[in-house]
Amino acid sequence: MSRVVVKDVCFSYRSGEEVLKGITLDFDEKSTAIIGQNGAGKTTFVKLLKGLLKPTRGEIYILGRSANEMTAAALAPFIGLVFQNPNDQIFRSTVLEEVMFGPLNIGEDPKGARKKAEEALEMVGLTEKASENPHDLRLSEKKLVCVASIVAMEPEILILDEPTIAQDHAGMAAIRQVIRRFKEQGKLVMGILHDMDFAAENFERVVVFHQGTVVADDDPREVFSRESLLQRAGLEVPHITRLGWSLGRKETFLTEAELIQSLRGEGSTDR
Ligand SMILES: Nc1ncnc2c1ncn2[C@@H]1O[C@H](COP(=O)(O)OP(=O)(O)OP(=O)(O)O)[C@@H](O)[C@H]1O
Ligand SMILES: [Mg+2]
Repeated sequence: MSRVVVKDVCFSYRSGEEVLKGITLDFDEKSTAIIGQNGAGKTTFVKLLKGLLKPTRGEIYILGRSANEMTAAALAPFIGLVFQNPNDQIFRSTVLEEVMFGPLNIGEDPKGARKKAEEALEMVGLTEKASENPHDLRLSEKKLVCVASIVAMEPEILILDEPTIAQDHAGMAAIRQVIRRFKEQGKLVMGILHDMDFAAENFERVVVFHQGTVVADDDPREVFSRESLLQRAGLEVPHITRLGWSLGRKETFLTEAELIQSLRGEGSTDR
């Protein structure tokens, strides 16, 4: 079933400067990475899905409801967006209050909201920071607080705008875990990413934005095998893919494990 339907959507912040130029996309439960160079329109696109902006043309349906006619508040229980910049999202004085705010705001009672907030904080590894002021945390931790705030609302659709920026090893693992958990629950996860390695490893579909249009939309192996298209869109192939090619392999590897398996001669990927 399509969770999100986008039909011929255009958007301009200022008249005459179209940032999105007729986007048509359908999203089912397949986890999807959105990639594209700076200014390609990725954040604008997900703000439209979330109802924070309204298309200048075209239609968007979220779980069968017309987003054009709904406010961001009305869409909040169904679709959660973790902002690119955590300072745009954080506004409470403790981490726990910050993470409880979302569930409370969509009608959860205080006890239930606290339970969901504590579970979400545990998932991202921030249980110890629950009573701290989120503004005092490091950028990587602030981003994880924002992830937890949205996870605690248990939306059907989760969108992460650049979750891996500034993350260390533990932060990356926490984000991987959140993505995996949503996938297991049959929910739609979308991630905007500059990190091609992370996109290749964690998502089942990749959509490439370039100057306000979609220039590729396929499974990761297909998209990351198209080096010239990626170059035109200002993007690189994942490091592991490049390493495989430089070792003379023809396949497009998406993970270290795939490359190692191929090098050991124990089998190869199906491409
Ligand atoms: N609030 C705004 N007012 C005017 N123009 C804007 C605004 N926000 C974004 N833009 C412009 O819209 C275009 C698309 O921006 P957007 O933030 O959607 O790109 P992006 O793909 O998310 O880029 P990045 O990878 O840098 O986050 C850019 O040219 C940007 O300058
Ligand atoms: Mg952006």
